[in-house]
Amino acid sequence: MSDFWSGWIIVLTAVSYVLLAWLLLSNRKINQHKDGATTGHIYDGIEEYDNPMPSWWIKMFVLSMVFGAGYLLAYPGMGKFPGLLNWTSVSQWQGNVDAAKQKNEALYAEFMQKDAEALVADPKAMRIAKRVFANNCAICHGNDAKGSYGFPNLTDNDWLYGGSPDQIARSIRDGRSGMMPGWQSVLGAEGVKSMGAYVQSLRDAQASASAEHAESREKFTMLCAGCHGASGEGNIAMGAPRLNDDIWLYGGDTGKIIHSIANGRSGKMPAHADNLSAAKIHLLSAYVYQLAEEEP
Ligand code: HEC
Ligand code: HEC
Repeated sequence: MSDFWSGWIIVLTAVSYVLLAWLLLSNRKINQHKDGATTGHIYDGIEEYDNPMPSWWIKMFVLSMVFGAGYLLAYPGMGKFPGLLNWTSVSQWQGNVDAAKQKNEALYAEFMQKDAEALVADPKAMRIAKRVFANNCAICHGNDAKGSYGFPNLTDNDWLYGGSPDQIARSIRDGRSGMMPGWQSVLGAEGVKSMGAYVQSLRDAQASASAEHAESREKFTMLCAGCHGASGEGNIAMGAPRLNDDIWLYGGDTGKIIHSIANGRSGKMPAHADNLSAAKIHLLSAYVYQLAEEEP
């Protein structure tokens, strides 16, 4: 603020202050009570008495003038004068931020000391974790963490990459990339179809052992078992989903399974090491771990 505007504001504030005080004190004098005297104003037959302002009102006004003067001394209000307390909105905001940060840092340091089991047992930690999850993970995995097409359900105890707190923390920190190659060119359209039927039969050991699947079974052992396991039990080292259950990342109907086999799939879990602190990742791993533990 330039000196001119600072001076201008000081003069304006001081003059209005003095004028207001004068207005108040000069009007206070008209308190000789003349019985029945009216101001001469008449509204709808109602006359207005010429009475002085009530004394409580005058006292309140004087008090607020005194408060105003004190306020202008203590806080910035008179141009560039910073006020005797040296208060600024920025310093107050910074103070609040610092206090919150300090509180949070202490809290997160405490979380870091605890293992997943202890965090799960701490309702406050889980409350905070739920919020961190809602802010960072819910867009893909859903607010209830139950996932959707292509985004795994985190509550079902069926894990692509493992469900221990450490494995979950790794998924969050470093991210994950599913690498399922497409098999259209290797198997041909008919081969993909019968492979799809074989994959759907994996849930039922008897059905999958039947002669009708003999050819696909052989090809599965050759081409797929290295990642998905001999009987489709999955492999967390590859992030290869279990195929002999009812849980599907990309849908379990014939069309979707055939699409998965023919064209491949490549789901990506982004790494969060850069935008979440180690303590937040630790907290989230306990939270996700607990979501699945709660499931019957
Ligand atoms: C941009 C979307 C996206 C976001 C954001 C995201 N994820 Fe994921 N996440 C995925 C996908 C896709 C996969 C599956 C990767 C695959 O198919 O291999 C996955 C996999 C996972 C897995 C492994 C699941 C398993 O079965 O092993 C965990 C654990 C996980 N995410 C937790 C989280 C948490 C916690 C957050 C929040 C910090 C988060 N994700 C944010 C998309 C996302
Ligand atoms: C290199 C390892 C690898 C090989 C070999 C492989 N898969 Fe996969 N498969 C994966 C991975 C990883 C995924 C999960 C992709 C993702 O996370 O996006 C997957 C996903 C699938 C899915 C979708 C599962 C779901 O839950 O929606 C089907 C079906 C499937 N594979 C069948 C096959 C068949 C049949 C073969 C052999 C012809 C095969 N895979 C060979 C790694 C492999």
